[in-house]
Amino acid sequence: MAEQRGILIGTAVEPLPLRADADYAQTIPREFNLLTSENVLKMGPLRPDLLTYYFQEADFLVDFAESNGMKVRGHTLVWHNQLPEWLTNRTYSPSEMTWILNDHITTVMDHYKGRIWAWDVVNEAVLDDGSLRPTVFLQALGPEYIEKAFRWAHAADPDALLFYNDYGAEGLNEKSDAIYTLVKDLVERDVPIDGVGLQMHVDIAFPPNPADVAANILRLSALGLQVQITEMDVVTSGDPADAERQAEIYAEMLQVCLEAPACTAFETWGFTDRYTWQGTQTAPLLFDAQYQPKLAYFALRDVLSRPTP
Ligand code: XIL
Repeated sequence: MAEQRGILIGTAVEPLPLRADADYAQTIPREFNLLTSENVLKMGPLRPDLLTYYFQEADFLVDFAESNGMKVRGHTLVWHNQLPEWLTNRTYSPSEMTWILNDHITTVMDHYKGRIWAWDVVNEAVLDDGSLRPTVFLQALGPEYIEKAFRWAHAADPDALLFYNDYGAEGLNEKSDAIYTLVKDLVERDVPIDGVGLQMHVDIAFPPNPADVAANILRLSALGLQVQITEMDVVTSGDPADAERQAEIYAEMLQVCLEAPACTAFETWGFTDRYTWQGTQTAPLLFDAQYQPKLAYFALRDVLSRPTP
């Protein structure tokens, strides 16, 4: 149904349940045509030491996606979390850090050249107040680390779509204003960036305002950028009575995406409440822990089957 509406529909995936849980493995290609590596392409898991790349787990996911005709989002090349200890344990000079980051981006993207459709090149570089997050990369290289990362990424795989991805910047606020300004500057200086990912980790008590999200997507698309919903989940109190409101929030965000030509993918951060970083008791996803589709699942199908006004 998503394909008919011109968007991809995706989920984050982990290799452990993919190997061990047949229901998990069967649900993914049945329901989704886009897959994101939830953890295995992050620098920590991937880089036990400066010279070693541990690609086995990510290869397994990419092979699985390909053999099931699914596209892949690579997550993520430059992020302040889940970094290897050898990187955070000491200070690196600007030239050392330039080498490390360039080598990382180039080696990883080259390994998957032509096989990963879109990359989250830079993840969560902006704080809620709109300033740049102090990270090892900012400390060593200054604000230019962001554009350098995009340039190295484009050189490594010119066909991959390159994204800036962040949370809490779905609607209109100081943070989304700052991200808009950041990517506008990149676009104006011909830095190769293709889009912005809106993570969309949402709590049922504070859902994003649909009109604000639409306005944010519209201003980003006016820069010539794509927008993707990249990590949606909707945390509840765990009370089954929350399921209805949760379904509405999922439906509202998918509707906003469908109404925006620039919005090319809608992805959830996992799909079963059995395995979720938010904790099973918060029941944030589309299927319950026994793989039964929830109201949110049917609400998304409903939106996809309804013609856009
Ligand atoms: C989360 C994973 O889901 C967890 O398994 C891991 O322990 C921590 O990271 N924003 C992101 C994702 O960009 O990479 C994060 O994923 C969730 C928040």
